[in-house]
Amino acid sequence: MTTPTRAMALALLVLAATVLSLPTASLAVTSPYVRPPPRETLSLFKDDDADGQTPEQVHISMVGLDKMRVSWITDDDAPAIVEYGTTSGQYPFSATGSTTSYKYVFYHSGKIHDAVIGPLQPSTTYYYRCSSNPSREFSFRTPPATLPFKFVIVGDFGQTGWTDSTLKHIADADYDVLLLPGDLSYADFIQSRWDSYGRLVEPLASARPWMMTEGNHEIEKLPLVEPKPFKAYNARWRMPYDAGASPSGSNLYYSFDVAGGAVHVVMLGSYTDYGAGSAQLRWLRRDLAAVDRGRTAFVVALVHAPWYNSNEAHQGEGDAMRAAMEDLLYGARVDAVFAGHVHAYERFARVYNGKADPCGPVYVTIGDGGNREGLADKYVDPQPAISAFREASFGHGRLEVVNATHALWTWHRNDDDEPVVADQVWITSLAANPACNKNKNKICPLGL
Ligand SMILES: [Fe+2]
Repeated sequence: MTTPTRAMALALLVLAATVLSLPTASLAVTSPYVRPPPRETLSLFKDDDADGQTPEQVHISMVGLDKMRVSWITDDDAPAIVEYGTTSGQYPFSATGSTTSYKYVFYHSGKIHDAVIGPLQPSTTYYYRCSSNPSREFSFRTPPATLPFKFVIVGDFGQTGWTDSTLKHIADADYDVLLLPGDLSYADFIQSRWDSYGRLVEPLASARPWMMTEGNHEIEKLPLVEPKPFKAYNARWRMPYDAGASPSGSNLYYSFDVAGGAVHVVMLGSYTDYGAGSAQLRWLRRDLAAVDRGRTAFVVALVHAPWYNSNEAHQGEGDAMRAAMEDLLYGARVDAVFAGHVHAYERFARVYNGKADPCGPVYVTIGDGGNREGLADKYVDPQPAISAFREASFGHGRLEVVNATHALWTWHRNDDDEPVVADQVWITSLAANPACNKNKNKICPLGL
């Protein structure tokens, strides 16, 4: 791009940002769009695997800024080794991890392996194979070490025809990391459906890091029979709770950085203790206190049950957690909070304590991945003034952090299989807003 063209592009970007910057008292919109009914549940059976050592359900997740955890499953015993390199078919590097498995009532899982590879170069494609099995080669691209940075955000996936449609739309445009605010497989106690889900998402989840927190569908606790919650989720979708500047010690909540620390992502757990004196609250206080907003342009949080919600579904379910944690997020000038649980899309203005506040986070509900329970299409009427846009459709969101001050949020509706941009807004960094940082003492109301 020539210099004048680049200058013109930048001018247009700033103009667009000015025009589209989040209004604190935006016009509330309830979209009239009527969604078709939910689609049938998909079942992805395993390919023929004569030796029981073919890797499947392969997925990757970030471990720190320059390492990646590779997870996969084999039917039988197989080495927990990942071999990798930057040329297809050549694997000069390798790492050995560990293997686990679990039983759930009468179900016995396959051998669940994971290994952490790295250090890796940023923005680089790596080719890899698992358990030294030559039949399947995978590849992924590492995230960039600097801005811009592209997230896909979508919750409540499930495994239906609509999930498939959402996955295709996600794959249609490039991204660096996928963030999932809970409710993955909708296995709902039938453990083979976790395997089916792993196969469905493998093409995407083996190629880009998928980072998630838990939803209620991950609990799968059965009184007396299976008293331990999150058995399948914790075994299959291990997140980096023991890495980074503030290890949480729990797979149910953790944080990580991307883009060389320019963006800090906080994954909160709606279905573990979060109240006064809880380990999660103590960790969150520690985690947010360690964030240097001079270096970290954006802080975003994910949670399953939304703290702000004008849908009739799941009303009030996030209230207790909000009461416990909202001050901490507000004090740390968290820029945006993304939730799932409600099967619809809703974007709020910047909010704090129930009211529009220019220094509060933007709240978004994005629980519309395509699960079998269908959509939540009944809304509280009239639409609250703090609710900027709401619509009961399946879809996914994209957050592109363009630079240290601006991020573009876009919601893509799955409009009868065609992706349609139905909502878009610029989010400006609160760290870069002098009005929100006048009094440093006020930034940390709970003694961060
Ligand atoms: Fe949920």
